[in-house]
Amino acid sequence: MRIAVLKEPREDEPRVAASPESVKKFAALGAEIVVETGAGARSSFSDEAFQETGATIAASREAALEGADVILAVRRPEGLAGAKNGAAVVALMDPYGNEAELKKLADAGLAAFSLELIPRITRAQSMDVLSSQANLAGYRAVIEAAEAYGRAFPMMMTAAGTVPAARVFVMGAGVAGLQAIATAKRLGAVVTATDVRPAAKEQVESLGGKFVAVEDEEFKAAETAGGYAKEMSAEYRAKQAELVREHIAKQDIVITTALIPGRPAPKLVDAEMVASMKDGSVIVDLAVERGGNVEGVEPDKAVQKGNVTLIGITNMAGQIAASASALLARNIYAFVEPMIDKETKSFKPNREDEIIAATLLTHGGALVHPQFGGKAAETAAPADGEAAKAQGAAHGG
Ligand code: NAI
Repeated sequence: MRIAVLKEPREDEPRVAASPESVKKFAALGAEIVVETGAGARSSFSDEAFQETGATIAASREAALEGADVILAVRRPEGLAGAKNGAAVVALMDPYGNEAELKKLADAGLAAFSLELIPRITRAQSMDVLSSQANLAGYRAVIEAAEAYGRAFPMMMTAAGTVPAARVFVMGAGVAGLQAIATAKRLGAVVTATDVRPAAKEQVESLGGKFVAVEDEEFKAAETAGGYAKEMSAEYRAKQAELVREHIAKQDIVITTALIPGRPAPKLVDAEMVASMKDGSVIVDLAVERGGNVEGVEPDKAVQKGNVTLIGITNMAGQIAASASALLARNIYAFVEPMIDKETKSFKPNREDEIIAATLLTHGGALVHPQFGGKAAETAAPADGEAAKAQGAAHGG
């Protein structure tokens, strides 16, 4: 069984889908791993490091693809000419709205697996790329904010006088938001956070943050079975905006991470709120890829609105590529390993398996996923309570 690891061609994607550690584990299962030269360079993994743990280095993409049974990439790869018919492709496929691209993979006879569709069930926690990357993105968002902020985060009492602690407000306390809260606390900031899910309150408080939210009846019912947020009513949004309007004027840093599965990011901060902030304040919008939570934010730019800096970075995890790739590689290994038949040392996905059924987009020349043109009967039926969570996750990211 041959596994190919591709180099990401996009300038804005420094991550890689394997690490020397995951190569070693695949090699121990009897796999032959071929890494495209330079694939790990922007994640601090050299060709030599991959070789030392058992990979061979291919001089080109074509050479890496030759004879591969499994192709690993971070983003949905294009230009897979030369790939073997029936080969599996494992990547963040970005499937929503990209059916035409998925069809191309099907037409090429490839079995495409979408990492972002891995259900959030207990057995799949080690495979959860959305969580591993969101966690790092939350951390990095605070670091970006700290860099752009012309003042200190912690309170400092010096002979020259006291420097006040920065006030950080985190909007959306999911995986990324909770890590942003923890990071800002570690840097010594005074942290508040908001969310529409009641479960978030205790989590925010356990990290030492103060929870700020409109806690009415709608809030109490705002969490789906999958643990995700629902879109809130216009009435709730108006009340939330009033609360935010008052609170945000006193903040130095705002980190926004609010997302609703399958919907554009909710607009939480309008231009007037931005203008009300103190000179030198910084807003980092992690939802920018899905339209942003903040009015005026632009993808992959830092824009100045009066004396407030708005930062929108679409690939925030990529800003911390070595850590992001190390975790991504572990997630991908955890996902692929159960599909390897240990006796025959071959790739044999069991399509009855809940995780495989939820992630397999194309097979045998056709789109097979029920959400993307496939027939529902072709995937395993959800069997237990966790299936509802899986369904929620399938709409996320
Ligand atoms: P996400 O990325 O979909 O959304 C981020 C946050 O934005 C969520 O907390 C959401 O409630 C919040 N939000 C949405 N609309 C908002 C609004 N109008 N105002 C303020 N906040 C708003 O969510 P993420 O980070 O993927 O996590 C969602 C849930 O899934 C969390 O409860 C998390 O703990 C849970 N989870 C469960 C896992 C598992 O069971 N294996 C793994 C990872 C997360």
